[in-house]
Amino acid sequence: MIAAVGKNLELGYQNQLLCHLPADLKYFKEKTSGSPVIMGDKTWESLPKKPLPNRRNIVITLDKTAQFSDCEVVHSIEDAMQLVECEKESFIIGGATIYSLFINRIGKLYLTRIDSEFTADVYFPAINPEEWTLVEENYLEKDEKNPYNLTFQIFERK
Ligand SMILES: NC(=O)c1ccc[n+]([C@@H]2O[C@H](COP(=O)([O-])OP(=O)(O)OC[C@H]3O[C@@H](n4cnc5c(N)ncnc54)[C@H](OP(=O)(O)O)[C@@H]3O)[C@@H](O)[C@H]2O)c1
Repeated sequence: MIAAVGKNLELGYQNQLLCHLPADLKYFKEKTSGSPVIMGDKTWESLPKKPLPNRRNIVITLDKTAQFSDCEVVHSIEDAMQLVECEKESFIIGGATIYSLFINRIGKLYLTRIDSEFTADVYFPAINPEEWTLVEENYLEKDEKNPYNLTFQIFERK
């Protein structure tokens, strides 16, 4: 699972990301390129350019009549997991609903902490520290392109 969150686990507002952070987009691209990405249909809709290149794009919707082009469509998390069972690593890329559905099924969490509070209407699920070990943490100071300090954390399930 990979996500960028504000200080209160904010994820997005009005079906958009919280802010534009080229450093985090670059990190997201580095981590996910070559691997399947699984997302909810709201997140799919929100992508400015779709599909995400060099990745299998898998979209989850409950709507069995939904037709999306340039991606694979599934209707349950089980079907999504079945599609990628032969893959080395796959990424759950949001949004809030899909993170909540998968949070107890995943083994690794890439979390970018944005050092700010945001107006939001969707939040990342609570992270229970007893379930996760922080295995890597890298700090990036804000600059002219990235308006907030960022901490890139990687957690593994205990
Ligand atoms: N900060 C980040 O890293 C990050 C990453 C990704 C997204 N986001 C943000 O998150 C927001 C979108 O999140 P969201 O929660 O509104 O939408 P979402 O998780 O992207 O998609 C939700 C959709 O998933 C489908 N769904 C719900 N329950 C399901 C189930 N049990 N089985 C199968 N499909 C199911 C439904 O589609 P149908 O209605 O079609 O049935 C639902 O509308 C946006 O603001 C986006 O920018 C942030």
